[in-house]
Amino acid sequence: MYKHLTPGALPSSMQLSNDGRLRHFLTIEGLSPLLLEEILDRAEQFLSLPEKQQKKAPLLRGKTVMNLFFENSTRTRVTFEIAAQRLGADVTSLDIRTSSASKGETLLDTIRNLEAMNADMFVVRHEHAGAAHFIARYAAPHVSVLNAGDGRHAHPTQAMLDMFTIRKHKGEFPPLKVAIVGDILHSRVARSNIHALNTLSTGEVRVIAPKTLLPFDVEKMGVKVYTDMDEGLRDVDVVIMLRLQRERMGSALLPSEREFFRLYGLTEKRLELTKLDAIVMHPGPINRGIEIASSVADGPRSVILQQVTNGIAVRMAVMAMIMGSGGMA
Ligand code: NCD
Repeated sequence: MYKHLTPGALPSSMQLSNDGRLRHFLTIEGLSPLLLEEILDRAEQFLSLPEKQQKKAPLLRGKTVMNLFFENSTRTRVTFEIAAQRLGADVTSLDIRTSSASKGETLLDTIRNLEAMNADMFVVRHEHAGAAHFIARYAAPHVSVLNAGDGRHAHPTQAMLDMFTIRKHKGEFPPLKVAIVGDILHSRVARSNIHALNTLSTGEVRVIAPKTLLPFDVEKMGVKVYTDMDEGLRDVDVVIMLRLQRERMGSALLPSEREFFRLYGLTEKRLELTKLDAIVMHPGPINRGIEIASSVADGPRSVILQQVTNGIAVRMAVMAMIMGSGGMA
């Protein structure tokens, strides 16, 4: 249905208003370092503000946020819900897989009906790349759209919460070496993180994966490619692990999970190759013993649960900035 909006051809400028402010949040591509830093700074304020005070500044009071999840999610959906509630919005979460879409209603008809219920913001997760852009293009003028993950294309709020977590632990980006490890091919998190890290002038962005799990033109995204994990991990400041996205794998791309763990699993031994103070990240859900050893996931260098907490502040920041841009006016 939205074939004309295949990734790569997605107009990133449509997410900005005429004065360059954020109106929708669909992709990191095309956004300036200044705008990304503004998101991080706003999130910092929200994180340091006690919850009681946050409730006194209900920037989204009287607004209705609708979470449209066409695909499974727990942490992303719930953190968006909490973020919108803390900003004073009314929040409804629809599990579209079990609703009218399964009765043959078109996406556009679903959107029109939800607009008729006075929706002001749609938070969209969809298995097809371009779905959030499609909705943003056809939504009513006062409605804003946030992409909560579209196919293997983009997951911009995840990238920003990852940038926030990195900045909190490591400070500035230019001196850093960051490795993203695992199923890069199917990962919207990897794509959005690569764009965000490069926009923020990160010293070196590496991807580590078997050839079968790398997009064919990945070097063009401004990364160093490693198929050997031990080489790729050497001296990095940050390791971002990814899940094997079995649900997106058409054919067998891997010998076995055990073999994958042997070659690409993050163990304590492998972690010794990184800088002494390197942090370990993962967007979740984690698969213990497949891409990451339990002792690493639960170990002192893991900031995986901090990422989840930071996700609330970052999502509040994005929603608040969209409010300030005249979106949802
Ligand atoms: C990621 C996603 O959905 O893209 N998870 C998330 O949003 N926390 C990564 C994944 O599913 O592996």
